[in-house]
Amino acid sequence: MKQQNNNLKSLDTLFIKTYGCQMNEYDSSRMADMMKQAYGLRLVGRAEDADVILMNTCSVREKAEEKVYSELGRYKLLKDKRPDMIIGVGGCVGQQEGERIQKRAPCVDIVFGPQTYHRLPEMVKQIRRRRVKLTETDMPEIEKFDHLPKAESHGFSGFVTIMEGCDKFCTFCVVPYTRGPELSRPVNDILDECRQLLTNGVIEISLLGQNVNGYRGEGPDGEEWDFTMLLYAVAELEGLKRLRFTTSHPMEMTDELCVAFGEIPQLMPYLHLPVQSGSDVLLKAMHRGHDRDAYYRRIDLLRQHCPEIALSSDFIVGYPGESDADFEATLELVRHVRYDSAFCFKYSPRPGTPAAKSEDSVPEAVKDERLQRLLSLMRQQTGEAMARQVGRRLDVLVEKESRTAGDMQGRTPDFKIVHFKGRPRQIGQIMPVRITEAYGQSLRGELILGGDR
Ligand code: SAH
Ligand code: SF4
Ligand code: F3S
Repeated sequence: MKQQNNNLKSLDTLFIKTYGCQMNEYDSSRMADMMKQAYGLRLVGRAEDADVILMNTCSVREKAEEKVYSELGRYKLLKDKRPDMIIGVGGCVGQQEGERIQKRAPCVDIVFGPQTYHRLPEMVKQIRRRRVKLTETDMPEIEKFDHLPKAESHGFSGFVTIMEGCDKFCTFCVVPYTRGPELSRPVNDILDECRQLLTNGVIEISLLGQNVNGYRGEGPDGEEWDFTMLLYAVAELEGLKRLRFTTSHPMEMTDELCVAFGEIPQLMPYLHLPVQSGSDVLLKAMHRGHDRDAYYRRIDLLRQHCPEIALSSDFIVGYPGESDADFEATLELVRHVRYDSAFCFKYSPRPGTPAAKSEDSVPEAVKDERLQRLLSLMRQQTGEAMARQVGRRLDVLVEKESRTAGDMQGRTPDFKIVHFKGRPRQIGQIMPVRITEAYGQSLRGELILGGDR
């Protein structure tokens, strides 16, 4: 159904710019599906070629938010030339800033939040009828999943959002305010979406949520299911080769979930378990709900059941009041746990969060220095984790061609990137590869003879 109007150019093309976490990546692909169904819009790779531009934004750190406004400056120039163009800002900045976005950037027609994007087709219709500015940021209930078209398949790897929002209210974080309360989708809805992906040829599924292990959804038996029960059910689906999830919270890392890593063959040996700090004082101040030893106990149990598991985490340096001793405790935790990778951030005060009420007391230069020290320790650990792979035979899910001609790129079960000489027709297959070399952030290998060459 194409939207036609005498004095308006028909809408043909859509460009989506996505920032932030995988939840946003998922939401963007659902927006594309929906706009295709409603208006026949085709995705294009450049804003210049689009009749509708949507930004799916992130407000977790100030930098992420600033990027939105600088990008909008560029889109304004496009719209000056083509006033029929529609510009929408969604995601977490949309939710938090609402109409303030249109005040600062009047070229924006539509503002919406992570829980209201299913109303996009209707909003576009209204804009086309009468050029008004629209803001839709209420979060009455989780209704969007009931209004979205069936997910289209995107290759061999798929994402499924199993829960929305966050109830943890860590003192530094905007997510509970932008994404709303924790709400879980019913088990059957999730299984249906997974089956759909598998029927379309997907072999790897990642379950998404801000705290997937806070999942509490209605099971087919009418009882409340937790995340581990859901995992076992998804793993049984026909055709699934690899199962992953992100993100999980240490506080809800149950014994059963740790055990599942040793029991479910499809569940890949990789876990992103953010800890933020190694100091008990800061963990408490941040309202993380656990101390350092409780985190260690989770890691020990995981390794007991899945010795080869690769661990990753998030860290914040320079949280208000962070002393030298607190920071040293973080380095100590990193040395103790030994990560395969991690994301390290400088604390960034976010409007409306409890931590933003305290003084941002750690000087920028100290934050910088701590970040560098942490990054350098992390680089060392990542390098060691890579070096340990040399000589191993690993199953690599081939993802795409590398930048180097003749090279393919894929992922090991524990999520490391491997380059090897191969063929594009291997994309989407799991191939045996012998690791020959380790680089800082990736591996090099050779296809093992007898595999498809
Ligand atoms: N739900 C996930 C993480 C969501 S945000 C969890 O709880 O683990 C991703 C990461 O951004 C966080 O783990 C944290 O390390 C970082 N982050 C969040 N708010 C931040 C802030 N105000 N300043 C700096 N980093 C922040
Ligand atoms: Fe933010 Fe904490 Fe919720 Fe993660 S658990 S999204 S860091 S409030
Ligand atoms: Fe960013 Fe929102 Fe995700 S703030 S990290 S896009 S939930």
